[in-house]
Amino acid sequence: MMDVQRIAIVDPSDSTREPFRNLLLGVESIWLEAECSRYEFFTDVIRQSSPDLAVVSLDSDKNKALQLIQQLTVEFPMMPILAISGRGDGQSILLALRAGAKEFLTAPVVLEELLLAIQRLRGNRNVSEGSAGHSVANTTRGDSMVISVIGSRGGIGCTSIAVNLCANLAQDKNINTALVDLDLALGDADVALDLIPDYTLADVALNIDRLDMQFLRRSLCKHATGLSLLPHPVQLEDVNIIHEDHLGRVIGLLRASYTHLVFDLSKRFTPTDLTAMRLSDVVLLIAQLDLSSLRNVVRILHTMNQDEAMAGKVRVVMNRVGGTDEDITLAKAEETIGQPIYWQIPNDFKTMSVARNSGVPLLMHAPKCKAQLSLMGLANLLTGKTAAEPVKKERKGFFSFR
Ligand SMILES: Nc1ncnc2c1ncn2[C@@H]1O[C@H](COP(=O)(O)OP(=O)(O)OP(=O)(O)O)[C@@H](O)[C@H]1O
Ligand SMILES: [Mg+2]
Repeated sequence: MMDVQRIAIVDPSDSTREPFRNLLLGVESIWLEAECSRYEFFTDVIRQSSPDLAVVSLDSDKNKALQLIQQLTVEFPMMPILAISGRGDGQSILLALRAGAKEFLTAPVVLEELLLAIQRLRGNRNVSEGSAGHSVANTTRGDSMVISVIGSRGGIGCTSIAVNLCANLAQDKNINTALVDLDLALGDADVALDLIPDYTLADVALNIDRLDMQFLRRSLCKHATGLSLLPHPVQLEDVNIIHEDHLGRVIGLLRASYTHLVFDLSKRFTPTDLTAMRLSDVVLLIAQLDLSSLRNVVRILHTMNQDEAMAGKVRVVMNRVGGTDEDITLAKAEETIGQPIYWQIPNDFKTMSVARNSGVPLLMHAPKCKAQLSLMGLANLLTGKTAAEPVKKERKGFFSFR
């Protein structure tokens, strides 16, 4: 489950309160604790419901609303207040902030702006309450972790790793995972999960201007493991419908409903791939112990480290370690790429290909196989848990933390 924000709102006008309520109801990370249509009663409502955040609409009676904000600030100093008004002029903003509101939004409220404001308020509260926040790589923005999976050549194992990583992440009841297939032309995450989607990224892109959380969530396909999939377009000609600026919007909204987003990227370094990586917290660069892959790892790392939004996020994951056609050692690979290998996944050809071809994730097909144990370890590492003990014991020195 997500870290849910309990919100109470006051707005005497039905015509603005109702659309705002509907906006809130679509967001999984928000719980509408109380809704009030009279400024006079709102303090009592807050006393009874103790929400995390109070939202006060100013427009029905500005003076009463400002007085209420002042009163709430005195009585509930730890509860942030968000003021909303259709008049977004400097004077209204100033008055609301002077009265004690921590944030101001102009009505009609845009979902992304609301989510960002809530995120800022939550961040402030965590700081003032001395909270340690989130421990793993999602320290920069909000609560969700965004992971891109990119390959150093074709057929390197990106889809297998993205799908199985997601399935493992989804086993934790506190985690809500979405896999987004951004290999727009030739992706096959839907095949790897044996899902037949009703909607794809193309539907999301076509409706981008009226996208809300309900529509977006409906567009994702739920799998038995608990993960949700947003598939690539079915028709090849629809690939061009999806632009990189759509992605920013989709990711922003998905972050409000899912704790973990995993992107299976194409290997063409398209504008959507680059945008996805820039918006990620971690980029898993999948490699194998062969010359073409390692040479590309060096080239990709070189380019990515020059990009401010990507530098330092890339972790090299070595796939199919222990395979028969390896001619380069792990030590030599680390020396060549100039950074440690973050995680290793053993070669497990038979199990992997049967699971892949039957559209079943490893944890359902062969929960004890070495590739599955390693992928579970990777999920644990990314979420800040310790790796599963049996993995380390089974192949001493084979799976390693960095
Ligand atoms: N750890 C592994 N051990 C053995 N086989 C593996 C492993 N990981 C992936 N494979 C196999 O490698 C092949 C390619 O995997 P996959 O489709 O996941 O790669 P990809 O990088 O997504 O490919 P594409 O470039 O087509 O997107 C599949 O047959 C899969 O079963
Ligand atoms: Mg693939």
